[in-house]
Amino acid sequence: MKHLLFAGICLAFLPRLLGQSEAVATAHPLATIVAADILAQGGNAYDAAVATHFALAVVLPRAGNLGGGGFALVHSASGEAAALDFRETAPQAASRETYLPSYETISSLRGIAASGVPGSVAGMWELYARFSSKSLSWPELLQPAILLADTGFQITPFLAGLLNRFQEDFSGVGEGPFWPPHEWQPGERLTQHALAETLKDIALGGPEAFYQGIHAARLVEWSEGWFAPEDLGTYRAIWREPLRAPYRGYQVFSMPPPSSGGVALIQLLQASEMLPLGRRWTTESMHLFAEMAQIAYQDRAQYLGDPAYMEVPAWALVDSAYVAGRFGQIHAQKHQAPEWEQSHEAIESYETTHYSILDSAGNAVAVTTTLNGLFGSGQWVDGFFMNNEMDDFATQPGVPNQFGLIGYDVNAVAPGKRMLSSMTPTILCAPNGDKTVLGTPGGSTIITNVFQVILHYVRYGESLQAAVDRKKLHAQGLPEVLYYEEGALTKRQMKDLQRRGHRLEAWKQIGRFQGVSTRAAAPDRLRSGDSKGHFKRYVR
Ligand code: DON
Repeated sequence: MKHLLFAGICLAFLPRLLGQSEAVATAHPLATIVAADILAQGGNAYDAAVATHFALAVVLPRAGNLGGGGFALVHSASGEAAALDFRETAPQAASRETYLPSYETISSLRGIAASGVPGSVAGMWELYARFSSKSLSWPELLQPAILLADTGFQITPFLAGLLNRFQEDFSGVGEGPFWPPHEWQPGERLTQHALAETLKDIALGGPEAFYQGIHAARLVEWSEGWFAPEDLGTYRAIWREPLRAPYRGYQVFSMPPPSSGGVALIQLLQASEMLPLGRRWTTESMHLFAEMAQIAYQDRAQYLGDPAYMEVPAWALVDSAYVAGRFGQIHAQKHQAPEWEQSHEAIESYETTHYSILDSAGNAVAVTTTLNGLFGSGQWVDGFFMNNEMDDFATQPGVPNQFGLIGYDVNAVAPGKRMLSSMTPTILCAPNGDKTVLGTPGGSTIITNVFQVILHYVRYGESLQAAVDRKKLHAQGLPEVLYYEEGALTKRQMKDLQRRGHRLEAWKQIGRFQGVSTRAAAPDRLRSGDSKGHFKRYVR
């Protein structure tokens, strides 16, 4: 017993004896190099995040962005936790009638009126202003992105393939990000001069250059009245209190509304502790997972939206007594049909990106950022793509969006309002001070993916990489389907789940997870894309 206790104490303090570590995981090798470089120059995790964000806008134009928005979850070396909301807002011209009665009238997915006011530039400025080490200046943090845009970089086979498939759908003002359109070859050098000029202006002029200067004027002109100068001039990123909850000795910090991610994740974690999920991922635990997810997505649709516009009971929804009552109705063996009756649509192709960074002092940041769809609305201005985030509103209450998600009044369109999101940047803090930084793209599957990674990593004791690599399941009540990533289920497991009443459907890929911890970088190395990790241990 004494020996066991001693071994336990040694294990707990091992990271301290070995020294501290830094870790980065992003969806592109060049963005990971940029982050590692900033850390090597003495920048902290937040400096690295700002530089990475702008670099991703260049090397990962399908999701990295200036024309989109996102969320950052911070847990600093001093123990301060903060959530940064740089979600897009609906312009003043938008109203709950804008997209009625059908997608054919005005599209929330394609064209000008698909875009919300972009939040990324303001968000990065806020992150820099509050948490930067200030050992590197704002222009120095934009420098790598400017160089990548100006002198170019070799495109990966993945990006070449996407451009060849989608470039005909793109249009915009002036020179596009991919210019001139042609058959792209893997390894070809892509330069983006218009984007480089925009980045230089932001480097020199800060967010004002984007929200008030020449770029704001160009956005207003491009939008033909959809954006007014005030929409851009009054845009603000907002600091919010993160949602937090204990889970198996860890403190979990995640994103509050207008993301639904933190609420649903904490509900799932709490419910999983009340139900018999066991010590392994069996068909019984999979069944319980699907039933839990169905309830969490129902609450999401019913109660969550922008807290500035409605009473959003985020803390009440994660209250353990509420969770016990709400999830206590789950049948341990049989699938129960959800109470919703709306029709549903197919889930379309989409893109988002996540990066996780932890520096050697213990500063952690998880950032999920998006244009929503692949290359957003497909419209560019000043060398960057605009988002099609308006589709995340309940544009026609009760009718599902591109992710099959439905919503009601609480997420109806209103001028200035932020659309509900599923993005779930999350940080786990262990009792010994170790941190784990998590997140993924994947639309509605983001929440269940983050939940499964935590479940396998913490409860089932897998390594972070194994939990990231593991093939995932997804359920959201509507459609009434249990989705599985190809390879996630054996034939026997499929039969058992069907016997329990689940309708199964295969998906090629779920998410593209980027996790890091004090002990490892765990990029999503098995799924498509170019994810890359960096890990370095410092022995002091
Ligand atoms: O905010 C949201 O939940 C969505 N706009 C995210 C889109 C997404 O993750 C697409 N990705 N793969």
